[in-house]
Amino acid sequence: MSKRKEEATVYSQEMLTDGIYSLWIETSMASQAKAGQFIGVFTGDGTKLLARPISICDVKSDENLLRMVYRVSGGGTDLISKLKKGDKVSVIGVLGNGYEKAACGYNEESSNCELIPLNKSLEGKKVIVIGGGIGIPPMLLAAKSLQCEKVMVLGYANKNTFLKDEFDKLGQVYISTDDGSLGTKGTVIDAIKENGVSGDVIFACGPMPMLRGIKAYAKEHGMKAYISLEERMACGVGACLGCVTKTVNKDHHTHVNNTRICVEGPVFDSEVVDI
Ligand SMILES: Cc1cc2nc3c(=O)[nH]c(=O)nc-3n(C[C@H](O)[C@H](O)[C@H](O)COP(=O)(O)OP(=O)(O)OC[C@H]3O[C@@H](n4cnc5c(N)ncnc54)[C@H](O)[C@@H]3O)c2cc1C
Ligand code: FES
Repeated sequence: MSKRKEEATVYSQEMLTDGIYSLWIETSMASQAKAGQFIGVFTGDGTKLLARPISICDVKSDENLLRMVYRVSGGGTDLISKLKKGDKVSVIGVLGNGYEKAACGYNEESSNCELIPLNKSLEGKKVIVIGGGIGIPPMLLAAKSLQCEKVMVLGYANKNTFLKDEFDKLGQVYISTDDGSLGTKGTVIDAIKENGVSGDVIFACGPMPMLRGIKAYAKEHGMKAYISLEERMACGVGACLGCVTKTVNKDHHTHVNNTRICVEGPVFDSEVVDI
């Protein structure tokens, strides 16, 4: 799939809760976008040349609409939050592998180039879909894409949730909050244990400590976990090596224990990455 830069048009923008925005844009990329992939959003400010990587939260491909839900965490996302309906915004995409490619081990640069549709790879399996903090948005499209049995576990800081009502429409949702103001007090793993949640496969995105916990939990319970590493990036297209993460085994070509999150990821089999 080719990556390209495009002028998209803002379809709508709203604040969901303090500092968290939902942005729908009109772009031809909507028809190609898969769960776990992301796009690069340019801010239009000459001092911030790099596109900001934001996950795809939802798509309406028949209307060419693609949604991102993001937190204002610095100057770039602050500028993006000022965009209004009808504004033009430059985007590059679609970027990254997504859950579908990760779940079938697809890798253009190794020998496995067979892309198996997500729901075929997971036939007969039950998936635990886990999102933590600003890792929650990409899990909405992931949950919507899964036709198999699934349960969702979402971790928030407190009861000021976002997107929860949309997940509720998709099936059983369990919540954890850091302060205990809603659901289980503690982590998503605490919510899984407290509610006796079980499954065969985990799909997850969230902060690194959460992903480390999920990797350990999956290993302990003999489960597969596909985790999205939303680490800091620069070019976003594989050229600068600004996003490498350690891998358990050596890369086929470079013979080092490294992989680029922006191209080979951001979604990895948790057993493959040394996090
Ligand atoms: C693949 C991928 C998908 C992402 N998806 C989303 C998403 O769906 N929603 C969302 O809100 N954010 C997402 N992010 C994070 C988002 O890209 C950053 O918050 C954004 O680039 C910050 O830009 P800025 O100019 O506003 O802030 P900057 O001024 O560049 O940084 C402000 C603060 O944010 C921190 N920061 C910057 N990048 C990251 C990062 N990747 N992870 C954690 N902290 C960071 C910096 O350390 C700094 O403290 C994603 C990142 C990646 C790599
Ligand atoms: S961000 Fe440049 S190689 Fe990944």
